[in-house]
Amino acid sequence: MQNYRKSNFKNLTLVVILIIAQIQAQDFNYINKGSDWTGTCLSGSLQSPIDISDVQGSCDNTMNLTMQLSNQNLSTQILKSQVLSSTAPANQYWSYLYASNLDGVISGYQSNYFSIHSPAENYLNGSQADVELQILHTINPNFAQTAPSSSTEPITQYAIVSIMFSVSDSSTSTFFSSYDPTKASAQAASAPQISLNMTQALSSLDLTSSYYLYQGSLTIPPCTESVNWYVYSAVQPITSAQLSNISIFFKGDLQFAKGAGNNRPLQSVNGRTIKKGNIQCEEQFIHFFSFFVIYTFLNFFVCKML
Ligand SMILES: *[C@@H]1O[C@H](CO)[C@@H](O)[C@H](O)[C@H]1NC(C)=O
Ligand SMILES: *[C@@H]1O[C@H](CO)[C@@H](O)[C@H](O)[C@H]1NC(C)=O
Ligand SMILES: *[C@@H]1O[C@H](CO)[C@@H](O)[C@H](O)[C@H]1NC(C)=O
Ligand SMILES: *[C@@H]1O[C@H](CO)[C@@H](O)[C@H](O)[C@H]1NC(C)=O
Ligand SMILES: *[C@@H]1O[C@H](CO)[C@@H](O)[C@H](O)[C@H]1NC(C)=O
Repeated sequence: MQNYRKSNFKNLTLVVILIIAQIQAQDFNYINKGSDWTGTCLSGSLQSPIDISDVQGSCDNTMNLTMQLSNQNLSTQILKSQVLSSTAPANQYWSYLYASNLDGVISGYQSNYFSIHSPAENYLNGSQADVELQILHTINPNFAQTAPSSSTEPITQYAIVSIMFSVSDSSTSTFFSSYDPTKASAQAASAPQISLNMTQALSSLDLTSSYYLYQGSLTIPPCTESVNWYVYSAVQPITSAQLSNISIFFKGDLQFAKGAGNNRPLQSVNGRTIKKGNIQCEEQFIHFFSFFVIYTFLNFFVCKML
């Protein structure tokens, strides 16, 4: 792992810069809720976001989602355009990720960019959270170059790890305590530097909890369909005061997309596979199984006694 990080640094930095430039150069808005977006946004069949409700199969504990968040204080800015976003300093990453695709093939990715939508874009079983944090990971060139023969899926360029937040006035969001949206600015030249420790900011997120995996797209133009989405099922708390500091830019601002928020509307699932993963699935099964054994034994003894 150490080797792969070092050897492809230049390559990777270039790729990442190109991708970020591509994403930020897009001129788009939410005034028509994305119905005027063209190209793949219009013609694609694997578009995001979706309502994650029709999950296939039972929870799979062989799927791997290992996100290693940076534990450094990284200096960044909060930029406000159609989303709130932050980019890590040159050659540094918010996170390294190892994650399996729907075929169980593991790839390595890293992230130097995340963005925030409010209200949330993907729905969890029909419900929409107040905020969605999307950590955009780009595939490491080492994994992109060697298409595993065991995979029927095309190589995906991106892996987005998505974390939902909804108002619960009893707990403060650790993330939005360290990442104060009121420090956002539309211009990089005037946005103040902030310091963000991702490990600390996301310390309330249980990285071993369950998540959903599906194949989709970027939710902003060019809506590229080369994304594996990993959406955590646990919704994190945020106070209403913290939420209002985000929503003043989007849903709370009638000048911004007529107060519609910066979430792209739900797209058609088109029969896509959605899987649920969690390394603890097996334990849950074992728990259930041991209850079943005890129950059977008790029944047996009760019957004997009667
Ligand atoms: C997931 O994959 C990584 C990298 O291959 C490995 O280090 C880790 O042990 C795996 N985790 C699980 C739970 O299989
Ligand atoms: C990281 O940031 C925290 C909070 O701002 C601060 O207390 C700590 O001293 C910083 N650590 C380093 C190594 O700069
Ligand atoms: C989704 O919601 C439906 C009804 O609203 C419920 O029956 C079902 O158990 C839920 N599924 C999950 C995975 O939460
Ligand atoms: C970042 O946060 C983690 C978890 O709270 C802590 O262990 C680590 O020391 C912090 N890093 C810095 C540079 O302060
Ligand atoms: C909301 O923003 C104000 C500044 O406009 C700041 O003083 C306050 O701490 C923020 N509230 C929360 C909960 O982050």
